[in-house]
Amino acid sequence: MKIATYPGTFDPVTNGHIDIIRRGMEIFDRIIVTVARNTTKTTLFSPAERLDLLRKSLSGMTNVEVVSFAGLVVEHAKSVGAVAVLRGLRAVSDFEYEFQMALMNRKLAPEINTVFLMPNEKYTYLNSSIIRSLSEFDADINDFVPKVVADALKKKIMKKQATMKGKK
Ligand code: COA
Repeated sequence: MKIATYPGTFDPVTNGHIDIIRRGMEIFDRIIVTVARNTTKTTLFSPAERLDLLRKSLSGMTNVEVVSFAGLVVEHAKSVGAVAVLRGLRAVSDFEYEFQMALMNRKLAPEINTVFLMPNEKYTYLNSSIIRSLSEFDADINDFVPKVVADALKKKIMKKQATMKGKK
């Protein structure tokens, strides 16, 4: 049984992430999608909300599990019996950061490999910040995220805007 973890912030999950998960499923027997706590990021959705959106977005998929963790990626990978950490590479600009992270993870746990997959070209320009920003301006994001995510974003932004109005 070959297991891979797919860690990320997922604030929120996009179709680009789901594309990577689908590709990963062709290689691994089980994918553990892990909502990580990147301490350098302030997120719009709480860890519980991100977990819930991922679970709903991936509900039709078998052999995919969604969990959260707040430690080192490789420690988590070891604890779930994963042989690999799955990461997406969208563009050359991702490379340096991913390369550094992969080499540091290899230093920390040589038995765990990082596997990079490229999403469909139509998702190469996508990231969660762009999605959050588009939805602040009420742009149509239905081509980029599952419906459950688009609905949750709409609700979250409306709540945020109402709170800001209340403060004025
Ligand atoms: N499609 C669309 N967007 C994608 C994507 C894809 N296939 N793959 C990545 N992205 C986007 C994400 O949405 C995110 O966008 P944002 O920054 O605008 O929100 C961005 O690319 C990168 O995010 P992500 O893949 O979630 O990585 P991250 O840098 O936020 O976190 C962790 C990576 C979670 C593995 C890591 O930073 C972490 O927290 N590790 C825990 C501590 C650790 O192990 N440290 C040692 C590592 S050396």
